[in-house]
Amino acid sequence: MIKKIITADNTETFLNEEVGESYHSQTGAVEEALKKYVLPCKIKEFAKTGKIAILDVCSGLGYNSAMAIDVALEENPHCQIEVFCLEFDPIIVGKVLEVDPPIKSLSFYKELVRNNDLKSDQINFNKNNLNITLIIGDARETCKDLPENHFDAVFFDPFSPKTAPEMWTEDFFKEMYRVMKDSALLATFSCARMVRENMSKAGLFYDDGPIVGRRGPGTIATKWI
Ligand SMILES: C[S@@+](CC[C@H](N)C(=O)[O-])C[C@H]1O[C@@H](n2cnc3c(N)ncnc32)[C@H](O)[C@@H]1O
Repeated sequence: MIKKIITADNTETFLNEEVGESYHSQTGAVEEALKKYVLPCKIKEFAKTGKIAILDVCSGLGYNSAMAIDVALEENPHCQIEVFCLEFDPIIVGKVLEVDPPIKSLSFYKELVRNNDLKSDQINFNKNNLNITLIIGDARETCKDLPENHFDAVFFDPFSPKTAPEMWTEDFFKEMYRVMKDSALLATFSCARMVRENMSKAGLFYDDGPIVGRRGPGTIATKWI
């Protein structure tokens, strides 16, 4: 069962009762998208260059990348924005039609869902300088088809390492390394030791991310120190 809940910043998310976790921090779903992903990945700064490529891993409702599009367009309305979303559950993707958080660009995700068959492997939304591709499938496999050295920012947002340890492996981080540009930033909410060790084994360097609504910091990873 997937049940709608209201988080502490008064924005909606869902609780997956089977997994025993919510799709966003209960301390604030929209706050998390902005402060844990978009700001630490320096989306504003990348947008100034006129072109940005974002990888949203385990994209769910799309809050993280939709928030990034808001911030990038606000900074530079002419910025070329390319987003790849990897998500394996069409049910949560479809639930975007049931929420209304203060993220303007979520309307593009709603359009993507309304105009496409979520049983497809891949669906696309294109408007002016924005291109969003949602690849539906196991991200650990679908990421293998992504181009290398391509992304400026990676939002890495699976369920927790405790619940979904298979998503936080050295092999999966090696794929992230492969698709990241040398200047790219990867952000995730977890600061678990196992996560950071696997990032290191994959060749990534890590540092503390911001502390937002929970005791520990997130983690920011790069290809160079
Ligand atoms: C913490 S939620 C992410 C929430 C999302 N970032 C959002 O803004 O709504 C974790 C997501 O990982 C997805 N997921 C779990 N295993 C996956 C896999 N192997 N491949 C792709 N997505 C997966 C779940 O369906 C869920 O949507």
